[in-house]
Formats: sequence, structure tokens, C-alpha cells
Amino acid sequence: MSRLAGKTAFITGSARGIGRAFAEAYLKEGAAHVVIADIDLARAQETASELGEGAYAVRLDVTDQTSIDAAVKETVDKFGGIDILVNNAALFDMSPTVEITRASYDKLFAVNFSGTLFTLQAVAKAMIARGKGGKIINMASQAGRRGEALVAIYCATKAAVISLTQSTGQDLIKHKINVNAIAPGVVDGEHWSGVDALFAKYENRPLGEKKRLVGEAVPYGRMGTAEDLTGMAVFLASSDSDYVVAQTYNVDGGNWMN
Ligand SMILES: NC(=O)c1ccc[n+]([C@@H]2O[C@H](COP(=O)([O-])OP(=O)(O)OC[C@H]3O[C@@H](n4cnc5c(N)ncnc54)[C@H](O)[C@@H]3O)[C@@H](O)[C@H]2O)c1
Repeated sequence: MSRLAGKTAFITGSARGIGRAFAEAYLKEGAAHVVIADIDLARAQETASELGEGAYAVRLDVTDQTSIDAAVKETVDKFGGIDILVNNAALFDMSPTVEITRASYDKLFAVNFSGTLFTLQAVAKAMIARGKGGKIINMASQAGRRGEALVAIYCATKAAVISLTQSTGQDLIKHKINVNAIAPGVVDGEHWSGVDALFAKYENRPLGEKKRLVGEAVPYGRMGTAEDLTGMAVFLASSDSDYVVAQTYNVDGGNWMN
């Protein structure tokens, strides 16, 4: 369990959910430092103290360039550089097409797409200046593989993340920076409880029904857990993936094939 020995990882949106599970997995794999970078500083601090030695909380708002630059600088100054970036922070929203608002569009693209792009850019600059390469993992989604009737904006942000992974992956590999992405399917947790509540509203269902249905529809036979994704997250952060460039991997129990 030492595939990430001595590494420093910076994980956005890791106060809870999938990002938190990645932080825990990276520490188990020997990472020296894992930065829990989240807009919810109190929860990030709680998570860092629960994860223990090696975990460090910083406040980060991925929609704010000043916040991105400050969090990256603080990490580089404190730990000497960043080896692994996981662009994990994201928001979800849904509505029928005719009810889409500009506010929802602006917010989702600001966090899910611009947040990913400009955090990737800031960390890539630090990685290039240090000259030791690095690993960047973007969180996409099965929602980025195809549209969904009520989910136009979120799906579009995740399709854009897949495209961004392809372009930046091709550009940055000359600096030995691997950019790849993970496309999860349906992952149980606080995030999906919010999604379930929105489906209940727009599809007139009882709470919990959509969650049960999407779980039953997964070929594997159940919803995913955050821990189902950690194997891929460790692989893409480790030297085992050095020759893997600009790819997006589905980790979804068989929901989507490409
Ligand atoms: N849960 C799923 O079913 C699922 C499926 C496919 C893809 N994903 C993707 O996986 C990633 C993690 O999902 P999750 O289920 O753990 O989500 P989550 O909602 O549980 O966690 C998201 C985290 O991001 C943080 N965050 C929100 N806005 C931020 C901002 N502006 N700056 C910094 N941090 C911010 C939140 O505070 C939270 O801690 C997301 O990119 C999501 O789109 C999730």
C-alpha cells in the first residue's frame, strides 16, 4: 500500500463524498499530504481531523481565481509542490428545458467547468515550474456521455469536462503531466440524496424511489459507493498510469460502454 509514497495530493470538494473517499485512499497508499480543499471550510477541517496525519484543510472556492491561486500557493509553500490534483468539486441541478434559468446555468458552468479548467491551469503552472510532472484527474460523469431529459446543464458541464480532459491531456503530457478523468455512474451519498429529491419534485415520485430505480438499473446490481471509485483514482494518481493520456474511464457498474 505505498503506490503514492511521499506524494502531495490536492483534492477539490473533498470535505465529503467521493473526494473524501479519495483523500482517505491516497493516505492509505502512502501519500505524505492530502489537501482537503473545499468551499465548506468547517467541514473540510472536520474531515481533515478525522482522516488524521497527512490531511490538511484549506478553504477553496473554485469559482474564484483569487481563492484558487491562494489555495495552490499555500499548498506549494507548505509542502514544496503538488504531485496530484483531483478536480472533484461540482454542483448538480435539474429542471425541464423550458424552466432552465440563467442563474442555474451560470452557477453549474462556473463550478463544474470553469472551476475545473482554472484549478487545472493553476496547478499545471505549479507542476511545470517544479519540473517533476504530475497527475491530474477530472471528475466527469456518465451524464457527460449522453443527454438526459431533465438534466441539460449538468450533462453539458460534464461533457465539457470530458472534452477539456482530451485537450489539456494532449497539451500537458509534454510536461509529463497526465490529465485523465473518471466518469462515475450513480454513487450513493449526500449528493444523490439531493438528486433524488429533485427527481421526486419533477417526476412526482415519493422520496427514495428514484434512488431505488437507478440502483436496480445498474448491470452490477446496485448503486456505486465512493469506495468503488478509489481503485481507479489511485491508479490514475500513480506511476502505473504514466502511459495513460487524455482518457475518461467509466466506473459505473456497467451503465455505459464506449
Ligand atoms: N454522486 C454521484 O452519483 C456522481 C456521479 C457522477 C459524477 N459525480 C461527480 O463526482 C464528484 C463528487 O461528487 P459527490 O457525490 O462526492 O458530490 P458532493 O456534493 O457530495 O461533494 C461535492 C463537494 O464539492 C464542494 N463544493 C461545492 N462547490 C464548491 C466550490 N465552488 N469550490 C470548492 N468546493 C465546492 C462541496 O462543499 C462538497 O464538499 C462531482 O464532480 C460529481 O459531479 C458524482
